[in-house]
Amino acid sequence: MRSRKLTCASINFIVVLLSQSVHSQLQVGFYGNSCSLAEFIVKDEVRNSFFRDQGVTAGLVRLHFHDCFVRVSKRAKLLIHVTLGCDASVLIDSTPSNKAEKDSPANNPSLRGFEVIDNAKARLEAICKGLVSCADIVAFAARDSVELTGGLSYGVPAGRRDGKISLASETLTDLPPPSFNVDQLTKFFSNKGFTQEEMVTLSGAHTIGRSHCTSFSNRLYNFNGTTNQDPSLDAIYASQLKQQCPQGNTNPNLVVPMDPSSPAITDAGYYTNILANRGLFTSDQTLMTNAATANQVSQNARSTMLWRSKFAAAMVKMGQLDVLMGNGGEIRSNCRVINS
Ligand code: HEM
Ligand SMILES: *[C@@H]1O[C@H](CO)[C@@H](O)[C@H](O)[C@H]1NC(C)=O
Repeated sequence: MRSRKLTCASINFIVVLLSQSVHSQLQVGFYGNSCSLAEFIVKDEVRNSFFRDQGVTAGLVRLHFHDCFVRVSKRAKLLIHVTLGCDASVLIDSTPSNKAEKDSPANNPSLRGFEVIDNAKARLEAICKGLVSCADIVAFAARDSVELTGGLSYGVPAGRRDGKISLASETLTDLPPPSFNVDQLTKFFSNKGFTQEEMVTLSGAHTIGRSHCTSFSNRLYNFNGTTNQDPSLDAIYASQLKQQCPQGNTNPNLVVPMDPSSPAITDAGYYTNILANRGLFTSDQTLMTNAATANQVSQNARSTMLWRSKFAAAMVKMGQLDVLMGNGGEIRSNCRVINS
């Protein structure tokens, strides 16, 4: 009995040590010697796409989030599988025998920005063959997007490697739905190692980008058994949304900006909207229903600078979720397919 307990304890201990050393190895400037143009080339591609379509930056920030949160393992899972969080699993295309993350309802058709990653990867393969991981490209592109839209820039610890597994089914449990309330969100983020405050901070990403009508139309037309329209939604905003997203709309591509007054600026608009009952999703407006999170919403609305620096720090933390390092995984040559 005792020796068995000891064994379990030491396995846990080794796993903790492993994941700590894994984290400490990611380095800002990782490609400085091996491919010194890596970050420049990614930034150049993000900038090019931004000038064609400003919204692509929002897509790239969300791409990083969806990459990092899916396949983050609990300790037990870590011992069984070897593929993990920010591992570019979100970029892998489905095959006849495997439905990949990108084709789950959480990602298709809403996730965007894949072509920016492809373009950067193609240029990097031409000059630094087999050196720069797709997972790092996604992390760099998210940072560049924050920067280009006026957020605070940050150094991206790099050295991630690419995973070989991508399962649509895992997005069901690893990505939060817009219907979540504050308790569900807090628990969800805490399972991934984030505090409630970091959850509020990261949600501020919804200050850029767009949403499909389908992600919130229940709040307009069929809220619950007793009321059609969510009473926590500002009435004027609700009627605008109803015009943009008509009832019975069958066009799956209809979208609205999440922060209508500045959809391509990383400002505190997300928080001022919530204070005005104009948070688009239940998962946004629900932050007002808890004293601590409501307080953070007000604080972030008052001080954009404070929020921008908290956001940069939380993005760095998110980018380190259970990464593959060293000899783990691979460096894909095409971000959409695992190397054969
Ligand atoms: C707190 C829980 C979260 C929920 C429930 C949630 C849910 C959603 C939903 C439903 C959409 C709209 C998708 C569509 O219909 O087109 C969206 C968009 C977006 N989300 Fe989140 N999200 C959350 C957290 C985050 C985090 C942590 C980030 C990044 C740090 C993020 C970044 C974005 C961005 C940038 C968009 C706009 C994408 C675009 O314009 O293409 N979200 N989110
Ligand atoms: C529907 O929502 C309203 C307002 O939030 C609430 O008062 C009511 O209890 C809810 N009804 C059901 C059946 O959940």
